[in-house]
Amino acid sequence: MKQQISMRMLELFLWMQFALASLLVMAIGNESSSSLSIPVDSFLLACGSSVNITFQGRTFFPESVYEKHRLELKTQKSIAVTSDSGVPAPIYQSARVFWSNASYIFRIARPGHHWIRLYFSPLPNFHQNMSYASITVITEGLVLLSDFTFINYGGSYLFKEYAINVTSPTLSLTFIPSRNSFIFVNAVEVVSKPNDTFTDAISMTSVHMEHHSDLALETVYRLDVGNESHTNRNDDLGRNWEGDEKYMASNSRALNISVDTSSINFATQNEPGMAPIWVYATAKAMADETRPNLTWVFSVNPNYTYFVRVHFCDTISNSISLAIFNLFINDRVAYERVDLYTILHNFSVPYYKDFIVYTREHDLMVTVAPDRTTNRRNATISGLEIMKIINEVRILDEVTSADRNLPNSSSTIVKLAIIVGPIIGAAAFLVLTTITFCYMIAHRSKASSRSTTPTSCRLFTLQEISEATNNFDECLVLGEGGFGKVYEGTMDNGIKVAIKVANPKSRQGLGEFQNEIQLLSKLSHKNLISLIGCCDENSQMILVYEFLANGSLSGHLYGTAFVPLSWKQRLLICIGAAKGLHFLHTGAPQCIIHRDVKTANILLDKNLVPKVADFGISRKGPPLDKSHVTTLVKGSFGYLDPEYFRTKYLTAKSDVFSFGMVLMEVISGKPALDNTRPTEHINLATWASSCQEKGTFHEIIDSNLIGKVNLDSLNKVRELAWKCLEEHRKNRPPMVYVLCELEDALHLELASPIWQVSVDCALDVVAENGIEEEREQDVA
Ligand SMILES: *[C@@H]1O[C@H](CO)[C@@H](O)[C@H](O)[C@H]1NC(C)=O
Ligand SMILES: *[C@@H]1O[C@H](CO)[C@@H](O)[C@H](O)[C@H]1NC(C)=O
Ligand SMILES: *[C@@H]1O[C@H](CO)[C@@H](O)[C@H](O)[C@H]1NC(C)=O
Ligand SMILES: *[C@@H]1O[C@H](CO)[C@@H](O)[C@H](O)[C@H]1NC(C)=O
Ligand SMILES: *[C@@H]1O[C@H](CO)[C@@H](O)[C@H](O)[C@H]1NC(C)=O
Ligand SMILES: *[C@@H]1O[C@H](CO)[C@@H](O)[C@H](O)[C@H]1NC(C)=O
Ligand SMILES: *[C@@H]1O[C@H](CO)[C@@H](O)[C@H](O)[C@H]1NC(C)=O
Ligand SMILES: *[C@@H]1O[C@H](CO)[C@@H](O)[C@H](O)[C@H]1NC(C)=O
Ligand SMILES: *[C@@H]1O[C@H](CO)[C@@H](O)[C@H](O)[C@H]1NC(C)=O
Ligand SMILES: *[C@@H]1O[C@H](CO)[C@@H](O)[C@H](O)[C@H]1NC(C)=O
Ligand SMILES: *[C@@H]1O[C@H](CO)[C@@H](O)[C@H](O)[C@H]1NC(C)=O
Ligand SMILES: *[C@@H]1O[C@H](CO)[C@@H](O)[C@H](O)[C@H]1NC(C)=O
Repeated sequence: MKQQISMRMLELFLWMQFALASLLVMAIGNESSSSLSIPVDSFLLACGSSVNITFQGRTFFPESVYEKHRLELKTQKSIAVTSDSGVPAPIYQSARVFWSNASYIFRIARPGHHWIRLYFSPLPNFHQNMSYASITVITEGLVLLSDFTFINYGGSYLFKEYAINVTSPTLSLTFIPSRNSFIFVNAVEVVSKPNDTFTDAISMTSVHMEHHSDLALETVYRLDVGNESHTNRNDDLGRNWEGDEKYMASNSRALNISVDTSSINFATQNEPGMAPIWVYATAKAMADETRPNLTWVFSVNPNYTYFVRVHFCDTISNSISLAIFNLFINDRVAYERVDLYTILHNFSVPYYKDFIVYTREHDLMVTVAPDRTTNRRNATISGLEIMKIINEVRILDEVTSADRNLPNSSSTIVKLAIIVGPIIGAAAFLVLTTITFCYMIAHRSKASSRSTTPTSCRLFTLQEISEATNNFDECLVLGEGGFGKVYEGTMDNGIKVAIKVANPKSRQGLGEFQNEIQLLSKLSHKNLISLIGCCDENSQMILVYEFLANGSLSGHLYGTAFVPLSWKQRLLICIGAAKGLHFLHTGAPQCIIHRDVKTANILLDKNLVPKVADFGISRKGPPLDKSHVTTLVKGSFGYLDPEYFRTKYLTAKSDVFSFGMVLMEVISGKPALDNTRPTEHINLATWASSCQEKGTFHEIIDSNLIGKVNLDSLNKVRELAWKCLEEHRKNRPPMVYVLCELEDALHLELASPIWQVSVDCALDVVAENGIEEEREQDVA
């Protein structure tokens, strides 16, 4: 049985097995005959134009050229504007201006991946200054642009490219002017793109990137590395490639390498992600050995996930491989000891590799450096594409401000929203935020907040809160996030409380705030945190909770400030948390799904009694006649149910999955995600799964437990964790089963003396020979 479980786990994590990441042997087709270059859907609109416009080798047509059944423009009023001069390029010489919502509706002949390209540039001769127009564009649940204006932008034109997977027969692109204003667009493209599979991408962030094909991407950089020309070039798929020179870090000294395209070895098969052949014909290589690496630096939006595609073609080697190198992204090894010849069995063969990177910085750095362990000290790179994953609704950024524009009942395509909670390796951060996490409160209208504050919540005055926190004394801050701060407070009756104060600058989350009040004020269970009251004076949003002296479970597992918990204490905490969740799922008239179960949200009181906290994104579950609810995907990376992520169907089993990660953390004393660990260990589940495979599970176990734990008990919890982490939710047990198993594990721990066996070998023997069952009987 164990073998089976581990096989399934292997499958489950195959797509993110960094070590196994099989290298794509790519072949490039005859460029001119490529079937991929004839898109099935091809709309190239020169908006507002009455003539055909040729731009970068392609012809854009007036809207009227498209037949009515293929393209429809829905709007109340629009006018066409053209200008003969003063525009940056021919494509910008016309525009269509709207004063109310306007939608271009495209009939899509073949579903799948499409490019959407948008062109904007204010025309000089319009009676109003077009630079002031605020531009918001949405499509099928995605915000492409939000309140963009040319004022403060600096550029004279804006070009945007997105890749989305269209699944419905029509695609509508909606332009939303701000109130009392207008909006314009110069040109729009909707073009079929070869279906790209990102399945072999090396994920440097999170486990939940399985369904890459659903992701919507915005192209931010696309470089033809090593081309000496300074002009951009379009390929026959309309992709624009620019030179790389201006992104090179000053410490790099590179050589431009250029070979004839005829010397590039391509096979007959075409690969959707391939660059054009001339991208592979130019490259950069190391100029001299004294400069240790070549680095490109890109400015990006922090706290986004990026998709990085690196194109390689070894044109510098001849009879033996001369370049064996490492690729780094943001100074972390992304791809080790790349030896293209070994992978491709010939030189000058194009190929690419994909990476998924989360960055908290304003820079994204790609570096190649010769591998120091060989004497073939060279490195080469031919092309680079960087795309931002845009179907994430986030806190505090430009995207969310346009959420209000999204129609509520968008039933169509890609609509993934991930609230990236405290993410990745944020161990230190988690420790700080030991007390309940806040999900920010926003520019709310006073009226709406008044009307929705439930009366069952005790109202505090700002005066009372201020006194309780010693006028918001910074010394009393227990934790802090983008959404606000949590203070330790003392009420006038001497009772300690935790006070969550929303950051007034935070622009989102009123809904979550009210959600938390509404859910919590109705629930009462000793393993759920109690809400004491709230305060919403002077546009402050404040929640008051019972104070839990021992902080979060995560703090006890891998924070430094605490004495490690014994296995018995860990089991008791898990049992309590499982009871709280079981109550949530079954104790109320309608099931409540927590959606953000993690060790940081399991708080401990002075007696280590656990309380599940943070109901900001919890949801009422399905009514009895339905099996699931459909929602935007929210939760924390590392704990998120893959099936929920894929289908957007939420059930109580999603909490079970997250609880499985909690159990893994409890066993290992390590955070679910930690990007300070080596790449293949960043994700704890992957790491554990590969250890399980190799029979080295002991590597994972918290060293504080070694020699102090009953192995049968620990194995029982390990088995249980794998069950909870089953990919398919139908195979995951309900919370009540989890609870019973945990109680059994506790009995095993209490009943028997500690097995003074070295954990290392004992566990592996158990895993391989199934001895565990026999021992269990012995104990029983
Ligand atoms: C590319 O395809 C075209 C049309 O099929 C053919 O005429 C041409 O010879 C091919 N070129 C190469 C280099 O194979
Ligand atoms: C524009 O292109 C369309 C489609 O190819 C063609 O029918 C039309 O004659 C062209 N118009 C002009 C003015 O060239
Ligand atoms: C792309 O995938 C869709 C399914 O999502 C399929 O219908 C379509 O035929 C595919 N297109 C190509 C070019 O393979
Ligand atoms: C529009 O306003 C901007 C900023 O005030 C100014 O720089 C620009 O010249 C104006 N454009 C026109 C066409 O008046
Ligand atoms: C597009 O999304 C649909 C639905 O999520 C999925 O079934 C399909 O495979 C995707 N198509 C491609 C080409 O990735
Ligand atoms: C490589 O080409 C770029 C133009 O893209 C040029 O600026 C740079 O000087 C060239 N580097 C070398 C070493 O020739
Ligand atoms: C470099 O780019 C220029 C202009 O984009 C293009 O004409 C040229 O063919 C490219 N050089 C190579 C070697 O691909
Ligand atoms: C890397 O390869 C290029 C092309 O063969 C060569 O000119 C250069 O000197 C090599 N660099 C080093 C550091 O050997
Ligand atoms: C990115 O996220 C971190 C942690 O969540 C936060 O501290 C930081 O302020 C964020 N940066 C930006 C620019 O939003
Ligand atoms: C690249 O070289 C610079 C020094 O020139 C060094 O500071 C940096 O750490 C190196 N980066 C990598 C990833 O090795
Ligand atoms: C390797 O590439 C050369 C041309 O660069 C070609 O002549 C040779 O047949 C290729 N070898 C294999 C095994 O494909
Ligand atoms: C424009 O569209 C947005 C979002 O779909 C909607 O909220 C708004 O009411 C619409 N405005 C008008 C005037 O229809």
